[in-house]
Amino acid sequence: MSKVTVVGAGNVGATVANVLAHKDFLKEVVLLDIMGDVARGKALDSWQQAPIDYYSTSLVGTENYADTANSDVVVITAGLPRKPGMTRDDLISTNAKIVTAVTKSILEHSKSPIIIVVSNPLDVMTYAAQKVSGLSHTKVFGMAGILDTARYRAFLASALDVSPKDIQAILMGGHGDTMVPLPRYTTVSGIPVTEMIYPAQLDAIVERTKSGGGELVKLMGTSAWYALVLPPRKWSKPLSRTKKGSFHVV
Ligand code: NAI
Ligand code: 2OP
Repeated sequence: MSKVTVVGAGNVGATVANVLAHKDFLKEVVLLDIMGDVARGKALDSWQQAPIDYYSTSLVGTENYADTANSDVVVITAGLPRKPGMTRDDLISTNAKIVTAVTKSILEHSKSPIIIVVSNPLDVMTYAAQKVSGLSHTKVFGMAGILDTARYRAFLASALDVSPKDIQAILMGGHGDTMVPLPRYTTVSGIPVTEMIYPAQLDAIVERTKSGGGELVKLMGTSAWYALVLPPRKWSKPLSRTKKGSFHVV
């Protein structure tokens, strides 16, 4: 993999591009936005960080889809974020038009990229992108379960006064009220979490996780952008599927 395009140079997109550049395994990151100068400015700012943080990934800011040609991966963050009082579903009509148009434009220049959708409402936007792209469902992903699980782990870490690194958890379902944190598959270094916390406290954490995005919107007036992006310095290693079908770290 050598080229990643990030569409949308707002809070999420610019952070994704910056973090990817820090990872220093890509040749090029393209940051595209309808506001081309904003994308150009943020790409240039990130590039000027390279001598300090020691990476060589080149960054291109643009509004021109020709610059995205032959991308291996495309991350779609274009679209409106929530404002206080809005649900993710309130964004559907505006963001569906944006995600559909973006996906079509991307496919004009990249034949078969992996697409990772971030725009909300996440599950619907991911479905739309897959339908419009005509790509196999194995190539179009939505990003949200990682974020929701991270929030759940962070809340538990605070309650138990342990490191979030020591909490293993699974959360399933859609990115919204339907998400399902699974306490019976949640452990602290292998110890079932249900043995370490009162049921009412655990229930409260599950509920806080479900509305974790809204909590941040209330605080900041817009939605989150840090926790959904991998950290720049200490990287998780990629997972690969073994012949037996289980995952292992490579
Ligand atoms: P933002 O407002 O900071 O950035 C959005 C960017 O998209 C803007 O720069 C805007 O100019 C650009 N844009 C709009 N229409 C476009 C188009 N047709 N082509 C190219 N660029 C276009 O918003 P933010 O905070 O970056 O959030 C982006 C999206 O990601 C929102 O829909 C938000 O709800 C979603 N989100 C999803 C999360 C998840 O867990 N899946 C987490 C956080 C945000
Ligand atoms: C979140 O959960 C906005 O969906 C985004 O923070």
